[in-house]
Amino acid sequence: MKISIGSDHAGFELKEEIKNFLQSKGFEVIDKGTYSKERVDYPIFGESVAKSVVNGEAERGIVICGTGIGISISANKVRGVRAALCTNEYMAKMARKHNDANILSLGARVLGVDLALSIVETFLNTDFEGGRHEHRVKLIDKIELSVCQ
Ligand code: RB5
Repeated sequence: MKISIGSDHAGFELKEEIKNFLQSKGFEVIDKGTYSKERVDYPIFGESVAKSVVNGEAERGIVICGTGIGISISANKVRGVRAALCTNEYMAKMARKHNDANILSLGARVLGVDLALSIVETFLNTDFEGGRHEHRVKLIDKIELSVCQ
């Protein structure tokens, strides 16, 4: 499975940890930056990961900033993205099972490395349940097509 990953400066170190973890598990990782701890703007990296998931370059995405909030909001602006900010394994499991989330968002200033890796593993190993949830995900897609008056 190809995973696209991106962060701002606050998430840089956790991004590197996750990248190594995923590569050691045999995943192909596409690193969309940032590539140092120099201060940058998280929307740029949220957008980049989001676009790589909807255009098929990667199957799933992981975005990281200080809280995970700004970068998840940014990723969710791209049509077709369902980015879920998760702070524990249960949220990651349900984001996949019920919401078919295609991007995981993490807060590097909120989580320890071990917990973050465990959340990543859960997110990548859980399938969408479909069934009644399919209809709800389709309703989310419909919102994206609606026009604001
Ligand atoms: C950067 O200081 C911080 O604002 C950013 O990483 C993120 O937490 C925003 O939501």
